[in-house]
Parts: sequence; C-alpha cells; structure tokens
Amino acid sequence: MIHDKKILVTGATSGLGLALCEYLIQNNCKVVAIGRDESKIKEAGISHQNFRFLGIELTDFDTYETIFENDDSEKFDGFVHCAGIEETLPLTLSTHAAMEKIFDINVFSGIELLRYFSKKKYSNDGASVVFLSSVMGELGQAGKVGYCATKAAIIGVVKASSLELAKRKFRVNSIAPGS
Ligand SMILES: NC(=O)c1ccc[n+]([C@@H]2O[C@H](COP(=O)([O-])OP(=O)(O)OC[C@H]3O[C@@H](n4cnc5c(N)ncnc54)[C@H](OP(=O)(O)O)[C@@H]3O)[C@@H](O)[C@H]2O)c1
Repeated sequence: MIHDKKILVTGATSGLGLALCEYLIQNNCKVVAIGRDESKIKEAGISHQNFRFLGIELTDFDTYETIFENDDSEKFDGFVHCAGIEETLPLTLSTHAAMEKIFDINVFSGIELLRYFSKKKYSNDGASVVFLSSVMGELGQAGKVGYCATKAAIIGVVKASSLELAKRKFRVNSIAPGS
C-alpha cells in the first residue's frame, strides 16, 4: 500500500497511467501527471488539490527541466513511465525514422526523465521507479519489430539503472503486462 508519497506519472491521460493517478489520489499521494490531451483528464473527472497536470509533448526533450524546476520544493518519491505508443508496421516499412519515433516515447523519454528524477535535488533516497515493458518484449510479434524492441530495451534500462541507483536505495522495476 502506498500513502502520502509524491509521484511523477507519464501517460496520465489514458489507460494504465490514468488508473494509476486515480489510485494514487485515493491513497493521499501527490501526483504530477504528464500527458498531452488534457480533455481526457477533464472527462475522467480528476480534479484534486494533490493532482497537477502538465501538458507536455514527450518528444520535446528540452522542456523536461520545467517539470522539475517549476514544481514545489517537495522532492519526488516515485516515477512511473506509462506513456507509450504501439504501432503495427511490416519490417519493410520499419524505417529509422519510424523506429526513432517509437523509441523516443517508449524508451528515450523514460531515460531522460529518470536522468532528471535521479538527481538528489529532485528525489528522495529510497524512491521507486517503474517502467512499462510488455510481454511482447520477450515473445515478439510479427509486424511489431519497433514496439517489441522498445519493450525489450526497457528491461536493460531498469537492470542497469537499478544497479547504478542502488547507492541511493532506489528500486527500479519494470512491469510486463499482456494485452
Ligand atoms: N494496455 C495494455 O494492454 C498494455 C499491455 C502491455 C504493455 N502496455 C504498456 O503500458 C503502457 C500504458 O499502456 P496503455 O494501454 O495504458 O496506454 P494508452 O491508453 O494508449 O495511453 C498512452 C499514454 O501515453 C501518452 N503519450 C503517447 N505519446 C505521447 C507523447 N508523444 N507525449 C506525451 N504523452 C504521450 C498518451 O497521452 P495523450 O493521449 O495525452 O497524448 C497516453 O496518456 C504503455 O507503455 C504500453 O506499451 C500496455
């Protein structure tokens, strides 16, 4: 059970990220929520003094500092990277540009946010970080070379960063749901 923590959530406007935000608010946590389409938050009826929505396009990597610098002085206890895109593309259309797009959201934005999050001025020791992988990262699927590659990459990201951040007693994990 989680209580009274301050958590950064990407992919907060939909699906797993939205459900997580609702759960965290019910458990008295402060949530800084990232997504693009704020109308989905309004539709879901989330409005709470502990909930702050930031409309951010995650491919705008230069804007990330504002997430941390414009926040109140309270440090984060957790970061959950739920933002993700899934595309079906045959291998012949899986161009470098197409692969870059999916890696930008599913992997590189998570690494870049973790890079900021892991600074002592932004997070408490003992923080918890969760990335969303997928069973597809291990099983593979035809037409999903990009998606499967990103979800496999996440496993490497959490293994390496958990070793590096163990000195701050961070836990870094991934979850690999099925559909
Ligand atoms: N649902 C499943 O069955 C399942 C299974 C295995 C793994 N997963 C993984 O779990 C995670 C969440 O899945 P989901 O189904 O809950 O996702 P979802 O409902 O499709 O939501 C995706 C979220 O990512 C955000 N997002 C996408 N592109 C973005 C961008 N360029 N900038 C900022 N935000 C962006 C969306 O924000 P906006 O809508 O505001 O743009 C939305 O909040 C994903 O990583 C997915 O691969 C899901």
